[in-house]
Amino acid sequence: MAEEQQKEQEVTRIVSGMRSSGKLHLGHYKGVLQNWLTLQEDKTCFFFAADWHGLTTEYAHPEVVKAGIWDMLIDWLAVGIDPEKSTIFIQSQVPEHAELHLLLSFMTPLSWLERVPTYKDQISQLREKDLGTYGFLGYPLLQSADIMMYRADAVPVGEDQVPHIELTREIGRRFNHLYRQGIPPLFPDCQALLMPTSKLPGLDGRKMSKSYNNTISLSETWQETEKKVKTMPTDPARVRREDAGTPEKCTVWDFHQIYSTPDERDEVREGCTTAGIGCLDCKKILLKHLADELEPIRERRADLLKRPDDVKDIVAAGNAVARREAQKTMAKVRKSLKMEYK
Ligand code: TRP
Ligand code: SF4
Repeated sequence: MAEEQQKEQEVTRIVSGMRSSGKLHLGHYKGVLQNWLTLQEDKTCFFFAADWHGLTTEYAHPEVVKAGIWDMLIDWLAVGIDPEKSTIFIQSQVPEHAELHLLLSFMTPLSWLERVPTYKDQISQLREKDLGTYGFLGYPLLQSADIMMYRADAVPVGEDQVPHIELTREIGRRFNHLYRQGIPPLFPDCQALLMPTSKLPGLDGRKMSKSYNNTISLSETWQETEKKVKTMPTDPARVRREDAGTPEKCTVWDFHQIYSTPDERDEVREGCTTAGIGCLDCKKILLKHLADELEPIRERRADLLKRPDDVKDIVAAGNAVARREAQKTMAKVRKSLKMEYK
């Protein structure tokens, strides 16, 4: 335990990337972005839009990747990822990531990549795309380069990404072992900072995901959100207003767990099980909390959309900071690999 705490304290440099997969929704906010907001308060954070990772699966549709990038960056800024506290950038604008990926590829056994669980899973899940590519096999190694570039010691990720962080740690050790004998290691051991999986489901009770069409996106209008919540399915036993229900059978109840106060939850349970309140009353309590959370984000978003040049400047400044860091790392990497010819 003491050792665990010690470990946590040592975490100082954070890197995390996100592929652009369309507009961000409340699932991203609760599951990822709120963690980033906490981390940026006292850690050195690098957050980037992983456009190259987007191309590993969308190589036939670069315009899709491109369009998603700005939407995503604006969403980050709107929720409060703060360029004064975090370095916000775009992966492809720091081309050193590609150089490091290449240099790491020489020392990466194929079997390490082939055994990453996401590899075979994704190939079979996304059968319609031909993912039997060189780049797709290298996806986790590119991610290792992203992380190692900033000599990060921790990476906030969900469960599914843990094998990628483990691979990164192995690659970093291998690099240190091969090229840093007798000199201080270049790459720290990095660990996954497991983000608690968000308990927020989608509007239909399944995982919130664009492909299920059950999201509340950060960028939709309040009217859209209101309509979606008002038409959310509830406990089917409550056919009429006077039929009692069971909150546990209702997705609205899951939302109340996250948003409502204990008193409000008592009120909902009591009202639902005795038919004392209707589902619409119940949803109104939730809507008030959603408005409190979403309105400020949407206001900031609307404001940012009016200032596209400022957004570009913010990201350009982030790209420049990231690039300087990357060049520092690459100077050491090149030296380790005897690649100085001057
Ligand atoms: N693979 C990550 C995902 O799909 C995105 C990613 C790319 C990433 N590079 C990274 C995450 C570096 C953390 C660190 O979510
Ligand atoms: Fe769901 Fe609330 Fe209706 Fe109960 S009252 S079924 S918890 S929406």
